Amino acid sequence: MEDTSSTAPTHMVVVGASAGGLQPLTELCATLDGEAARAAVLVVQHLSPSHPTLLPNLLSQHAPLPVRALDSDEPIEAGAIYVAPGGHVVSVDRDTLRVAESPPGDLRSIDHAMRSAAASWGDRAVAVILSGSGNDGKEGARAIRGAGGLVMAQEPDTAEFPSMPEAVLGAGLVQRSASPWQIGDLVDAHLRGMEVALDGPLRSEPPEDASTKRLVETLERVFGIDFSRYKALTLQRRVHRRMASLGVRSEVEFLERVEDDPREAERLYGDVLIGVTEAFRDPGHFRSLAREVVEPLFEEAQPLRVWDCACASGEETYSLAILFAEEAERRGRPLSDIRIFATDVREKALEVAAEGLYSAEALAPLGPERRARWFREEAAGWRVGQELREMILFTSHDVLADPPFTRIDLVVCRNLLIYLTGEAQQSVLGSFMFALDSQRYLFLGPSESLGELAPGFDVLDRRARIFRKRAASMPDRRRIPLPTPAHLGPRARRAAPPLQDAYESLLQAYVPPSLMIDREHKLVHVFGDAARFLQLGTGRVTGRVTDLLPRPMVAPVVASLQQVFRTGEPTSLVVDGPDASKRIELGVRPLVSGEHVNALLSFRQIAIETTAEPEVMGRTKALELELERTRSHLQGMIEQLSASSEELRATNEELTVSNEELQSANEELHSVNEELYT
Ligand SMILES: C[S@@+](CC[C@H](N)C(=O)[O-])C[C@H]1O[C@@H](n2cnc3c(N)ncnc32)[C@H](O)[C@@H]1O
Repeated sequence: MEDTSSTAPTHMVVVGASAGGLQPLTELCATLDGEAARAAVLVVQHLSPSHPTLLPNLLSQHAPLPVRALDSDEPIEAGAIYVAPGGHVVSVDRDTLRVAESPPGDLRSIDHAMRSAAASWGDRAVAVILSGSGNDGKEGARAIRGAGGLVMAQEPDTAEFPSMPEAVLGAGLVQRSASPWQIGDLVDAHLRGMEVALDGPLRSEPPEDASTKRLVETLERVFGIDFSRYKALTLQRRVHRRMASLGVRSEVEFLERVEDDPREAERLYGDVLIGVTEAFRDPGHFRSLAREVVEPLFEEAQPLRVWDCACASGEETYSLAILFAEEAERRGRPLSDIRIFATDVREKALEVAAEGLYSAEALAPLGPERRARWFREEAAGWRVGQELREMILFTSHDVLADPPFTRIDLVVCRNLLIYLTGEAQQSVLGSFMFALDSQRYLFLGPSESLGELAPGFDVLDRRARIFRKRAASMPDRRRIPLPTPAHLGPRARRAAPPLQDAYESLLQAYVPPSLMIDREHKLVHVFGDAARFLQLGTGRVTGRVTDLLPRPMVAPVVASLQQVFRTGEPTSLVVDGPDASKRIELGVRPLVSGEHVNALLSFRQIAIETTAEPEVMGRTKALELELERTRSHLQGMIEQLSASSEELRATNEELTVSNEELQSANEELHSVNEELYT
């Protein structure tokens, strides 16, 4: 007799998804294994009737169970994932899936499948509602719940389009909501007879297969960024796309190539960090920002501090700068009252941003008036005007590893969180909460949300994702990245103990405006109001603090840093301030944590009467001070000269590489030419 026990399913799981459903479906199917193989799974996704779907192929790349595209009636087998075709409805009988054309205008294929599953499978039916707009699935889930089956939904916060899961949750039909990659485990537990409605096991992390691990390790080794905190499936998708365009089939081979070829690495880096951006991206949301945030801020705070995190190539930052500058002009306020810190982890993007030169097409969203007001035309495109440029400080910053800025009035972070794991999103949002002053604002991307931190914010515009921090909200401090010696690479960075003590004592004391600087003179963190002592020059951005200091400070600061890193002893000196009545005392001292040393540069403004004037401190002291300044100056000049010659060498190397690229492009053209002739 034929053994049917291995093919007859114990349960029927109907998964409904629509807009934004691919990612959660992939995550869910990737975790359906083990006990879940005793069930049959039907995926009903709203698909176009006129195009063949790639969904079964995409799912089968990640699902341990076989995925089958349904195009006609099929017997139901355990351990299979069936994908319903677009433009059709699927009825679930006891042992057959029946496919029929949708009645014209019927957009409720999820309700249809779930209702029929409820009728034939009763309490052995399971409904899962994932991301989607509208409320298809609500009535089907009601039928399954009514028949004694289990109803689960994707946590709306994790869904790109939350209205479908929200509809079933709102109707009180859901026994358990979870992230898609947790639902597979819940199906597994349900099939084992466990009570999953209230608790039941949940993974705290998405599953990681060997290939993801290898990918993350390689990317981390090559780029110095901890990619384990980015969504593995997104990373894999980008890598596979790149492999496909190169015609490389083996991931191992591709990753070796990335390690060996810096140009391939750079291309992949651009792809996985997804630098897509636009000026005034989502124009309505920027209009709401102007109304809800920019205008009120001018009533309340001066000067204003804005942090544009993940600014990519700068179009977003200049859009923000324009909003603030226009409001300042309306109120007759100087633009110097506004300071925008624009940060990104990708140095190449920051170089473009700092240059501020864009094509007419890239600036089209500004409209001709704004473009003419804030940019000027050059042969190569449109360059940002000095006024706008001086409001912004572009600097490299990894929001997952580097400590946040402080006393910020508005944090803008759009379209980065969607690429991060849930845990990493909460940690980044914790940093923003920490960075913001009380009652200050947060502006996220259209499909990003606050998750667990939602109670700490008021919603000002839900659609535009504009929030205001509540007065006493503070994040869980374990989640905020504390200062570590940045720019040492992730392994060294992780090995180094955080400089928690130094940071906390600085914060608790009155926080003198200070900069934390590493051995390469790169800026690691800004404490307090140090930005007012900084000034942005023009030219190539090296990421060193010297780019940000007023000219008279550069040489003495470089000399003092050299001395502190050499001797480990603190030092201080006085330099001329921006106006004749003020001088600035610069204190530089080492910050040691284990084997890592950074320097802390603090600024103190002193009125000239109280400084070391000859009458007060005596001629000898004044001469000593003058000598010290001259010595520092000299040492600084020497450092500057050697830095410039290093830069020249680097530029030369870049030119050589470009030359080689041209050469190889030339060769390729030749070979194409030859192919055309043959
Ligand atoms: C899709 S772009 C968003 C650009 C812009 N905010 C927008 O919405 O148009 C994502 C940006 O996040 C940056 N990014 C990725 N990981 C980051 C990290 N850990 N810290 C800072 N920036 C990061 C990338 O380099 C990229 O420029």
